[in-house]
Amino acid sequence: MSTATSDIGLIGLAVMGQNLALNIADHGFKISVYNRTTSKTDEFVAKNPDTPGGLFGAQTLEEFVQSLKRPRKIIILVQAGKATDAVIAGLTPLLEPDDIIIDGGNALWTDTIRREKELNDAGFRFIGSGVSGGEEGARFGPSLMPGGKESAWNELKPIWEAIAAKVDAETGKPIEGAAPGKPVEGGVTCTTYIGENGAGHYVKMVHNGIEYGDMQMICEAYAIMGKLLGMEPKEMSKVFGEWNQGVLDSFLIEITTDILAQDDPVTGKPFVDIVLDTAGQKGTGKWTSVNALDMGVAAPSIAEAVFARCISAVKEERVAASKIITPVLEAFDGDKEEFVQAIHDALYCSKICSYAQGFQLMRAAQEEYDWKLNFGEISMIFRGGCIIRAAFLQKIYEAYQRDENLANLLLDPYFKGEIERCEANWRKVVAAAATSGVAIPTFMSALSYYDSYRSDRLPANLLQAQRDYFGAHTYERVDQERGKFFHIDWPDST
Ligand code: NAP
Ligand code: ATR
Repeated sequence: MSTATSDIGLIGLAVMGQNLALNIADHGFKISVYNRTTSKTDEFVAKNPDTPGGLFGAQTLEEFVQSLKRPRKIIILVQAGKATDAVIAGLTPLLEPDDIIIDGGNALWTDTIRREKELNDAGFRFIGSGVSGGEEGARFGPSLMPGGKESAWNELKPIWEAIAAKVDAETGKPIEGAAPGKPVEGGVTCTTYIGENGAGHYVKMVHNGIEYGDMQMICEAYAIMGKLLGMEPKEMSKVFGEWNQGVLDSFLIEITTDILAQDDPVTGKPFVDIVLDTAGQKGTGKWTSVNALDMGVAAPSIAEAVFARCISAVKEERVAASKIITPVLEAFDGDKEEFVQAIHDALYCSKICSYAQGFQLMRAAQEEYDWKLNFGEISMIFRGGCIIRAAFLQKIYEAYQRDENLANLLLDPYFKGEIERCEANWRKVVAAAATSGVAIPTFMSALSYYDSYRSDRLPANLLQAQRDYFGAHTYERVDQERGKFFHIDWPDST
């Protein structure tokens, strides 16, 4: 029987769990690990005999729980949903009051709210923490988005701050030799307390929605380069490499540069050309979009990115349709170099709109759930460790420093100026893609979002009149105060 010597425990030794456990042990914390299939625990511990903090592989949940110092801190990194509930149900009979369960999986935030309530009512504490950055992030520094009771966070904080990504805020480069558990001088430690009640998992979900948008927008830039300008992947790779030195500097542009330069080891053709054009999804982008609809917040570019994956998935249907629907389209006949710059600007403006939508969503959620989200800090914890890490996030941070109650990023002087600088090119690209028949749903929807948001009068007046006509849903008048509703007698339409 082991004694209670471990600083923390972790359940779930798949990709994320193994990497996070090694990251924790590397920072000098002793960690107990447990996996449902015990052979995985044995293999993992045997493969990693010399970590600075030390690993203890428990064979049973009882042994696992007994090996932890009190109050116990237990990270769960199993499949989100039923598996998480099953692990919690197995664990709680073995725990004592004040012990802390930390769910690091991609949980739906409403599940986190439920679990937090159930566990608090039972005398335990619960943290739902977004963990971003995939395998590499978990191993060497993820972006961590913890939510839950602040007392629980204060106990987890030294470990979370030690293992989170630490980067230079300006360059995004990792900061070497940062002291564990201490915010880094001049840099960013990519974790901060987000709030109670599911806030951490909510922010992780919106992060993923933004990630869907970023990925799709880059794909649309690639589509225009290929279909309109006839560029080859290696030529595009050079362009993306140059873009990565400017305002679009980000992890996703960087990996796109590499992907487009890669040859297929089997055929020697450009790798990207042999990959089937159907994308899967695990649901977090959908959750973000469904939540935007539920809350009545416009997040069309994020939703379009999800729909773009959906339409990509019906490959056979698209191939059949391509033989039937053959519109007469205009070929591109402009200046190629100028147009590449225009694509850059269109991508940049679309990206600003997508982030504006994501942050608006978080703003609406904070009203709904009574959170106090710090949008500047949230943008900075995305600066390192996660998939959407980008230089651009520093500008979002600065925008919220200028005005913490900023209604929309589009209203910030910096972003307003940037869009005004690039807007003509954005419109040029959208128009050219439309006349040439290249599908760019997120570029187009972002432009419509921008044009809608800046319109003092939208055609919803006619829509409301239609609603009043067919359903007596009433309307408000331009010459009366808001909140007074009217109805007129329409002629019988039947
Ligand atoms: P995963 O494939 O989502 O989960 C596998 C783990 O869950 C295994 O340890 C498995 O145990 C355990 N498990 C499944 N059902 C169980 C049950 N009923 N009872 C007990 N254990 C059960 O692993 P992952 O990719 O490492 O992800 C872990 C979590 O992190 C997920 O919530 C995921 O969404 C989230 N996440 C993943 C990534 C990523 O890039 N992969 C990034 C961020 C967050 P057995 O070995 O016994 O089957
Ligand atoms: P991150 O915060 O690092 O983005 P993530 O949200 O879990 O981590 O997802 C990162 C990528 O890994 C995404 O492409 C995600 O799939 P979706 O695009 O469909 O969301 C993928 N991913 C997440 N969990 C996964 C799992 N258990 N197995 C395989 N891929 C997974």
